[in-house]
Parts: sequence; C-alpha cells; structure tokens
Amino acid sequence: MAEKENSNSPLQKIPRHVAIIMDGNGRWARKRHLPRVAGHRVGLEAVRKTIKGCIASGVEALTLFAFSSENWRRPKDEVGVLMNLFLSALQSEVKKLDKNGVRLRVIGDISAFNEELQQRIIDSEALTRNNDRLCLNIAANYGGRWDITQACRYLAGEVVAGRLQSGQITPELIRQQLSLSDLPEPDLFIRTGGEQRISNFLLWQLAYTELYFTDLLWPEFDEQALTEAFASYAGRQRRFGRTGEQVEQGGHA
Ligand code: IPE
Ligand code: IPE
Ligand code: MG
Repeated sequence: MAEKENSNSPLQKIPRHVAIIMDGNGRWARKRHLPRVAGHRVGLEAVRKTIKGCIASGVEALTLFAFSSENWRRPKDEVGVLMNLFLSALQSEVKKLDKNGVRLRVIGDISAFNEELQQRIIDSEALTRNNDRLCLNIAANYGGRWDITQACRYLAGEVVAGRLQSGQITPELIRQQLSLSDLPEPDLFIRTGGEQRISNFLLWQLAYTELYFTDLLWPEFDEQALTEAFASYAGRQRRFGRTGEQVEQGGHA
C-alpha cells in the first residue's frame, strides 16, 4: 500500500523526473559576509534534503546541475574548491546513497577532471548501478550544447563508416545518443536563485518540461520548497501541442 501511494500515478501528478539548477550558493554566502565557497559547502545539505524528498515522493529520477561547462571561467580557487567538494561528497555520501537504493550517475565530459575524481566517479557508479529506487544524475562539466554535439559526432561517425545514411537521422536517433536517453525526459525543471534562464543545462531534454523558478537561494532549499514546486507542477496542464479540450478528454501525449 505504501508503495502504491508513492507510485507515479498520473492522478497524483508527481513528476517522474526532476531536473534542478542549484543556483545562488555564492549570493547566500556573500549575504552572510562569508566567502562564496561557504555557500557551496552548505549547499550540500540542500542536496541531501532534495534527494530525501524525491525518494519520499516516489520521484524516479533527479538530475542536479553541479558544474557547467562554463563554470571553468570562475576564479581558479573557486573551481578548485568545487572539485574538492565534489570528490569529498562522493566519498562521504556514496555508501549512504547505495543503502537508500539510489543509483548514481555523472553526466558531462568527465575527462577534464583529475584522475582521482574520474576514478571516484567510476567507482561510485559501479557500486550503485543495480539500485532502482531513485536515479540520481549529477551533471558535472555538463553543457546542453556539448551533449548535442557529442550525439552529432557519434552519428556523423556512423555515416562515415557507412552504417547510417544522413537521411536516416531523425530526432529520435539523436535523442538516443544524448545523456539520460534511458530515462523519461524531465517533467519538472527547478531553478533556485531567482535567475530565469537555462544556462546551457539539458537543452534538448527540456523541450516540453514544466519550468519552475524560485527566489530561494540553493542553501535555503528544503523539503518544504520541493513540495511547493511539486504543487505548482500538479496544477499545470501539459498539452504537448494539443488543445486543452483534447487533454481534458484524456488525450495524453
Ligand atoms: C551555484 O551557485 C553553484 C555552481 C554554479 C557551482 P553559484 O555559485 O552560481 O551562486 P551565485 O549565483 O553566484 O549566487
Ligand atoms: C548554472 O549556474 C550552473 C550550475 C548551477 C551548476 P550559473 O550560476 O553558472 O549560471 P549563470 O552563469 O548565472 O547563467
Ligand atoms: Mg550562479
């Protein structure tokens, strides 16, 4: 019964896949006259709460934007702290994630990270690969344009090798080569920190995602804030190009 209540029945309108831009760590810290990196450290607590809330609600997949392909432009010190924080969070959290049935994956070009971090990522993914309670995807050195580019590169290689004709390339074929192709596309996108932009997050995958913006800074985000985002999502009508009347008559996508 409990499992049923947590299931993703369309009636409850719990998003199956939630994607979050965790923004506002720096401003949270500056408001407190702390160095920006203090905000990143406290932000980890908001990550824990969000994972917990998603598991409790029966969300299937959670994708968190942790470091964009453009974040290398930040001061060297801040980039260094973010890398160390990522490494230490993997070390300290992965056992607990595993125990809670979380499957961890990292999306993005991880070849840019140092060997230790790359190895830690590979080990964490291997340890949790058979878990199926929540699929947690961390986007690190990720960019939506990179994602589409690597899919195009793969398909171009197939054409050159004679295994595919250019005329056979369809949106579905491109989709299959993108990150997260085995998951439903995000139903709900959340961005904290007040900015209303995508910042090169999942460009293709967000085509029909419901967008939700909150002024809360990421370290302030908690289960209550997540519930509010879910409530907003539940009140929306997703039409996927159809009319409202068609959708009301049960014409789901
Ligand atoms: C988001 O918080 C974390 C990362 C981009 C890694 P920010 O560091 O962007 O915080 P603000 O936007 O400067 O407040
Ligand atoms: C987006 O936040 C990236 C992450 C949260 C990891 P940014 O703070 O980098 O985005 P912009 O630069 O304000 O668009
Ligand atoms: Mg920011």
